This record gives sequence, C-alpha cells and structure tokens, in this order.
Amino acid sequence: MARAVFPGSFDPLHNGHLDAIRRASRLFDQLTVAVVNNPLKRSNLFSLEERLAILEEALVGLEGVEADAFDGLLVEYLRRIDSRVIIKSLRGLSDLETEAQMAHLNRHLSAEVETTFIVTAPRWSYLSSTRVKELASFGADVSGMVPEPSLRCLVGVFPET
Ligand code: PNS
Repeated sequence: MARAVFPGSFDPLHNGHLDAIRRASRLFDQLTVAVVNNPLKRSNLFSLEERLAILEEALVGLEGVEADAFDGLLVEYLRRIDSRVIIKSLRGLSDLETEAQMAHLNRHLSAEVETTFIVTAPRWSYLSSTRVKELASFGADVSGMVPEPSLRCLVGVFPET
C-alpha cells in the first residue's frame, strides 16, 4: 500500500494547502498530513495542538487522509510510519529553491526517500500562512482563504478579521 506524507507547519492551514492535500490524496492509498512540532520556531501563532485540531477538522471526509504530528527529523518520522514519499506544494519557482534544498537534504539523510511536488492551483498561488496572519491582524476578511476551523482560530486571536 502506497503511503505518502504531506508535512508542514500549517500555522494555520489555508486553502492552498487543502487543494494540494486533496489532489495528493488521489495519488496515494494513504496520505498523512503531518504537522511539525518545532520548538525552535517560536514565531508560530498557533500551538501544535491547535494546528493539529484544525487539520483534523478540515480533513474530515477526505478518504485515506489522516492528520498527525511529529517531532524531530522528517525522515525518521517517515521511517516510523513506513513511508518513503514526501509531498510538498509549490506556489511557483520562488518556492523551488528552498524546497529543492530540503528534498536534497532529506535524500542525503535517507536515500530511499523521494520528494514529489504538487503545483498549487493558480487561484491559491498567492496564499501563504504568513500573509493570511498578516491580513487577519489588520482586520481584513480572510474567510475566502482558509477553511472554517482556521478561520475560527484566527478570529479568536484577531476578533476584527
Ligand atoms: O510548511 P513548512 O514550514 O514549509 O514545512 C517545513 C517542514 C516541516 C517540512 C520542515 O521544516 C521539516 O521537515 N522539519 C522537520 C525537521 C527536519 O527534518 N529537517 C530537515 C529537513 S530540511
């Protein structure tokens, strides 16, 4: 059974992520969307528990897709859950530089791991979690950019959004 992992910070999950997750889920029997617990990244707006809860709610109804959290190296996590495929989304060429570096690093760490990319649908190509948080912090309407559970969390922090 082919199992892939879609890792990320998901701070918070937005519609571009969801589109890529849906499309990736059609390519694999099992897709684990794995939120990273990165204690060094103090700039996260939402806790690991909040980011995971958003994912769990937003992924309901997607067949073969589950949410999980991981600590430490991604390749070690893949080994633990018996997967060899990492899926990331690319909004455009500017993402490729960083994503290719991560793909090379992960293959250096674990030769059997392959990274594959889903190109974000054009309608979401301008979205990033950072921009969504910035807009929400200024009271802009981000309801068309994120799923309902993300919106609820954003409104919790920025009631004007
Ligand atoms: O959503 P992001 O911030 O692009 O996700 C980055 C993520 C979680 C994929 C990356 O930071 C990661 O894999 N972190 C776990 C630690 C690790 O394995 N680092 C080496 C690979 S660069």
